[in-house]
Formats: sequence, structure tokens, C-alpha cells
Amino acid sequence: MQVVKSVAEMQDICRKLRRGGEALGFVPTMGALHEGHLSLIRRARAECQVVAASIFVNPLQFAPGEDFAQYPRTFEEDCRQLDTEGVAVLFAPEAEEMYPSGAVTLVTVSGIGDRLDGASRPGHFTGVATVVAKLFHVVAPARAYFGQKDAAQLAVLRQMVQDLNFDLELVGCEIVRDRDGLALSSRNKYLSGKERDQALVLSRTLNQMKQSISSRERQSAALLQLGKDALNGTEGVRLDYLAIVDSRTLLPVPSAEKGVLVAVAAYVGRTRLIDNFLIA
Ligand code: PAJ
Repeated sequence: MQVVKSVAEMQDICRKLRRGGEALGFVPTMGALHEGHLSLIRRARAECQVVAASIFVNPLQFAPGEDFAQYPRTFEEDCRQLDTEGVAVLFAPEAEEMYPSGAVTLVTVSGIGDRLDGASRPGHFTGVATVVAKLFHVVAPARAYFGQKDAAQLAVLRQMVQDLNFDLELVGCEIVRDRDGLALSSRNKYLSGKERDQALVLSRTLNQMKQSISSRERQSAALLQLGKDALNGTEGVRLDYLAIVDSRTLLPVPSAEKGVLVAVAAYVGRTRLIDNFLIA
């Protein structure tokens, strides 16, 4: 696996790959890789001739006081895993390479970028959209792979791809969970044993809501009440949002119909976790 630090070199390599007629798949990450990330790589490998990945802990998507400095960094181990999975080229720039002094252009996805996590973390999705737009320009993949775990991120990026005419396909991939139901996340590393147990209330509550929907409760208000009662009743857990929304616009919907997104964010101790499901 080639590890590339400079924008110019990465652009050159990807240009050559595309000229060779290869379908280029791309998986952007912030590293601290786990099976969720690897599932995206495997899907990309299955669907594309060549796969590029990136590891970049993007300072622009962290607000002051968030966990940018503590964010887990396991670069050597990440490289080993990506190499084993057959990634051809890894882009791992320094912050100065992505944001040289004098860079002032941002990508803001209005409206949708201020909903769910965008409401709780003002500016977060401008940071995400800006870095992903830049990465798309550097790599210019045929397909880019993102996890449904970050459902709001996926919706924001779909809107961006449409609005800015990126000539690529965004592929949303299923959430990978631990055996006990906890959605895998690089931030799970922050949890103590006790907090990890408490964190299970997120997936458990979503499952209860899913079951209620299967037994024909469709009213969002009733479903949200059920979920909030479960989440608020758990020691050590502080609810950020529980929402039933249109999965494309992230706007609330009154009734939980097929294709609707049920999403939760909560603090377990000091760690902010998210989870969701799409109604089948
Ligand atoms: P990161 O949190 O490292 O996630 C990289 C990709 O892995 C995202 O598309 C995310 O949705 C996916 N992912 C994370 N956990 C997953 C799980 N349990 N199952 C399936 N997919 C999972 O998301 C980011 O980085 C950044 O915001 C980024 C898009 C790289 C921009 O900086």
C-alpha cells in the first residue's frame, strides 16, 4: 500500500489510476479503525477495481472544547489493517497540507447541515462537507463509501454531492455493531467498563422503538415518548436528541413510515455517542 502525504502526489496517482480505466473506490476516515470502517473498505473492494482510503483527523469539524486533541490515533495499526484489506493507496495528509495558511473557502450545506448533530454541534457539518469536498477533488473517485451509522452526515453529503455536481456515487453502508448491539465507533475507546454497559441503552431503546413500530405504533409523538422515557431513566446517560425524521431532509415527520430515520445522540459520561435505524 502506498502512503501519500501530499495533495499533489495523491492527485497525480489517482489521475493515473483513472486513466488506466480503473473504477476507483474511496473510503474517507479519521483513523482509529474498527470493523465498521473495514466493512466500508470490503464493500469498496467488492465493487471497485482499486480502493483508496484516507486518514485525516479533520480539525475543522471539531468545535473548541471538543475531543480533537484526545481523538484516538492509531496510525501504524490502521496502515497494517488497510494493507491487509487490499487498499492500494492511503492519503494521510497533515493539517497544514489540507488547510494551508490563507485557505478561506468553506462548504456549508444550509438547513440540513443545522439539523440533528448539526444543531448540537454548530459548524460541525461545514467542517465535514468542506473536508469531504476537498478529498473528492483530490481523489475524484467513481464511488465513495460512508456508514449509515452517521446518518445525518450521509444526508448532508448527499445534498452536497447533488448541489455541487460531484460526478460520483455515494454508497451508504449498514451499521456494524458489537455482539451486544453497541454500534462500533472510534469513540467507544473513551468508555469505562461501566459506561460501556450504560451505553447499551441506545441500541436497546432503538430496538424497543423498532418493535413498537412493528406492532403498528406509527405516531412519532408516542414513539418518541417511549424512547425518551427509556433513555432518561438510565443513570450516567444524558440525552442529546431523539428524533424521527425524513432521512433525506432530516426534518421531523409525524408518522414513522417506511424509509423514515429514527436517530439518537446521547452523552454517556463525557462521551457523545450516536445510533439510528431506518424503518424497513
Ligand atoms: P469516521 O468517524 O472515522 O468514520 C469514517 C466512516 O466510517 C464514516 O462513513 C462512518 O459513517 C463509517 N463508520 C463509522 N462507524 C461505523 C459503523 N459502526 N458501521 C458502519 N460504518 C461506520 O465520519 C468520519 O470519520 C468523518 O466525518 C469523515 C467523513 C472522514 C470526514 O472527516
